[in-house]
Amino acid sequence: ISILLINGPNLNLLGTREPGIYGSSTLEDVITSCTATATSAGAAFTAFQSNHEGAIVDRIQQARGEGVDGIVINPAAYTHTSVAIRDALLGVGIPFIELHVSNIHAREAWRHHSYFSDKAVAVIAGLGVKGYGAFTACCTGAVSIKTF
Ligand code: DQA
Repeated sequence: ISILLINGPNLNLLGTREPGIYGSSTLEDVITSCTATATSAGAAFTAFQSNHEGAIVDRIQQARGEGVDGIVINPAAYTHTSVAIRDALLGVGIPFIELHVSNIHAREAWRHHSYFSDKAVAVIAGLGVKGYGAFTACCTGAVSIKTF
């Protein structure tokens, strides 16, 4: 199984960005942990982060040609704004899990709406960076992303 992890804008600042909300682990910590999980499960794993909407759209389109089976995406601020990223995910037809470090429903009202949740296989929010552990479930088949 091949999984692509996509992180949107400002997630490159994990660890130093509003640590009261997002914690003290860095994106590098997260990727190291996901890589270890994928490797031990025999899964292929690629991580991508961008602060640019179009770059994320391009990366999703590229994934189709790479045989990616599932995408785990934290669209960050684009969660609440991006029809383009939603359309890219639906366009390539690759199942995806939506992930947020914080519980967006316990924050400002404008964070409650997501352009992704109604199409996601699963939505994870509020578990801190431990939410990225959902990645484990995809890689090991505990949750088969292919069955959705
Ligand atoms: C976020 C929540 C978003 O509302 C915010 O814009 C982010 C991060 C999260 O992981 O909790 O940048 O997606």
